[in-house]
Amino acid sequence: MKSASRMIRNLLTPIAKRALLTWEHLESGISFDLTSRDVRANPYDLYERLRQRDPVHRMRLINAWAMTGYEDAEAVLRDHRRFSSGENKLEYAPYRTMLDLDPPDHTRLRSLVSKAFTPRSVSALGPRVDQIVEDLLDGLAGKGRFDLIGEFAFPLPVIVIAEMLGVPAEDRDRFNVWSNDIALAVEPVLNDEEIERVERSSAEIVEYFEEIIALRRQQPQDDLLSALLAAEEEGDRLSHDELIGTLMLLLVAGNETTRSLIGNGMLALLRNPDQLRRLRDHPNLLDSAINELLRYDSPVQFIIRVVLEDMEFQGRQFQAGQKVLVLVGAANRDPAVFSDPGTLDIGREEESHISFGRGIHYCLGSPLALLEARAAFAGLLARFASIQLVSEPEFRDQIVLRGVEDLWIEVD
Ligand code: HEM
Repeated sequence: MKSASRMIRNLLTPIAKRALLTWEHLESGISFDLTSRDVRANPYDLYERLRQRDPVHRMRLINAWAMTGYEDAEAVLRDHRRFSSGENKLEYAPYRTMLDLDPPDHTRLRSLVSKAFTPRSVSALGPRVDQIVEDLLDGLAGKGRFDLIGEFAFPLPVIVIAEMLGVPAEDRDRFNVWSNDIALAVEPVLNDEEIERVERSSAEIVEYFEEIIALRRQQPQDDLLSALLAAEEEGDRLSHDELIGTLMLLLVAGNETTRSLIGNGMLALLRNPDQLRRLRDHPNLLDSAINELLRYDSPVQFIIRVVLEDMEFQGRQFQAGQKVLVLVGAANRDPAVFSDPGTLDIGREEESHISFGRGIHYCLGSPLALLEARAAFAGLLARFASIQLVSEPEFRDQIVLRGVEDLWIEVD
């Protein structure tokens, strides 16, 4: 089956696009143009209209259904037998990873790395993560104004995962570029320049990993890369391509997302100064605040699955091969589950957000992301008694991974 991105690129002459959106609108009273810049900048108003008019919405622009309800989202994500990740092969990613596999391959690959990401293994990294946060903050000393993303939110997860894997953190400028480019592969709509970036950076990172693997084969160390290498050498547990795919996934999956949690989260606090004040006054709310920031503006906005068999879902006829877009940001603001969902409330005690997904693909790195976010917000608030927004930031031109391009702040 042709993938959505190629289909959409072929289809999207302005006339064809308008015709499809008009058809969609006539059918359901609303259309969802996921290529629109306005939607990318602020998807939440549209999510709300979709929920009210057509909560399981047929998208004609791509052969897909968009879901806005929390319960529907959970039902799809927990049902991997009928809603597949494996059929949603990322077109421009060079290797398959656990993210786009179904059991049993998914189970095998996930089990090889899951030990490194249990809450217990991750909590042992706490002191080191605190140290990295302190070092980054020291580097900002004397700067009254800086870009929180470039100078803090991005380096933090890159350094942490590089150290866990056992790849030199000095190479982090290259990781930045690779990670930015390769993460584009999850977007359903890419232009030619973006496809070229995904392909070029993938080729470079593969070459880079091959060199490190060759070195590590001779001199194993106490790191995740050596552990994965040992599994590969046993033969039937991990193929060489799966090894490279897993390394790429681990290097990329946590960077964009954790950066956006810190960036979107700080932006939400700065736009809601009463909540920032509340967090400063009640540091014991830190965990609940981070959960609320994840709910309020999720770094991952869509989770995509492919329907495996014809079925009826909420009265709609789903056909095998169609895509389902679970709109995470919409489910997280479903008024059936969250009271006053558009309000940031760092003390919220309600059902959990779905920003880390659900079911068998539930974010493997979530304990690490939470650890890093805790250290980041605690460190920033302790270091700076005052934090102000210098200018309104722009969101990156992406729809699956939502995050601000930069976040200029003034601190004291
Ligand atoms: C705030 C930060 C993060 C967010 C919001 C996030 C979100 C997600 C989501 C929504 C999924 C599920 C995708 C699906 O169901 O198709 C996922 C999967 C995954 N995440 Fe994260 N993630 C974050 C940080 C991390 C970190 C730090 C790592 C590791 C270094 C990581 C590694 C992974 C991996 C390996 C998977 C695939 C799991 C599987 O397919 O079984 N993530 N993440």
